[in-house]
Amino acid sequence: MLTAPPARNSIPTTIPPPFSALTPHTAPRGLSGIRGPACYYARPAGDVAVSGRRQLTVAGIAQLIRKIALCDDVRVTDEVLADQVDYYRRRAGEYDVTAYGDVAAARARIARLVAEMRPAGSVLEIACGTGLWTEALAGWADTVTAIDAAPEAVAIARDRVRPARVSFEVADVFSWDPGTRFDVIFFSAWLSHVPASRFGRFWQLLGSLLAGNGRVLFIDEHVDERGKEAYVTDRDEVVERRLRDGSTFRVVKNFVDPAELEPRLRRLGWECAIRRDGTDWVYGEARLAR
Ligand SMILES: C[S@@+](CC[C@H](N)C(=O)[O-])C[C@H]1O[C@@H](n2cnc3c(N)ncnc32)[C@H](O)[C@@H]1O
Repeated sequence: MLTAPPARNSIPTTIPPPFSALTPHTAPRGLSGIRGPACYYARPAGDVAVSGRRQLTVAGIAQLIRKIALCDDVRVTDEVLADQVDYYRRRAGEYDVTAYGDVAAARARIARLVAEMRPAGSVLEIACGTGLWTEALAGWADTVTAIDAAPEAVAIARDRVRPARVSFEVADVFSWDPGTRFDVIFFSAWLSHVPASRFGRFWQLLGSLLAGNGRVLFIDEHVDERGKEAYVTDRDEVVERRLRDGSTFRVVKNFVDPAELEPRLRRLGWECAIRRDGTDWVYGEARLAR
């Protein structure tokens, strides 16, 4: 029988006949072909249901439900992404200490890892935050273009990293088009904030921003650190974060499991090697396979 709209993340593939249920559902905005509240009427005797003036087959209904579930998931993910930016805007002033603890020790670790990765030429840094990594990148690169969606974080980074060959921009990476390519694209603690539904498109974007033989360099947290986050019930990639003032936000957090990420990137056409630094961080290098 045809029942209520599917729960988020659970997409039905079959609807067993006979139909007997009447399922009211409000179509999500942006779903083509459906406007406003729509009711799907199912008749026990046949495999055809009527929605307003439209006739739908069983397969059609199944397809619609799948679309509704997907749209719902995308809408929810977009809301979390907006919350994520808001969170980092509000956190900017306390970020260095709450993220790194001993900032001097973190700076030394960052300098060591960046020296190991040797980011030469033109470097794009995505989600630069308060500029702790930008500072180290600037010591190796000819130019650094650093972007972040949080103006408050960019203001701190601008103040911290002053060489003229470093430029900052407030930008949402998912809708940013610089009209140029880079020898190296770097990001720290960013990949884990990319939702699974945008992962493929994100790596496609990286491919389009990379000069020939360019490299993607990234740092993130190892999956062994997962226990420190409070995951939202039924959302395996959304966590709740709390600022010092007690306000709470929802953020995407997909910790990196090298054994899972390397083959996943290979399937998308990237050669990738990921190593571990300490128990908490991983650092990786990826190139488009030829
Ligand atoms: C965990 S912080 C990492 C900051 C810095 N890279 C570091 O490792 O210290 C994540 C950063 O991603 C930024 N961010 C969130 N959503 C973004 C988006 N859509 N486009 C660009 N930056 C974004 C946040 O503002 C925040 O500064």
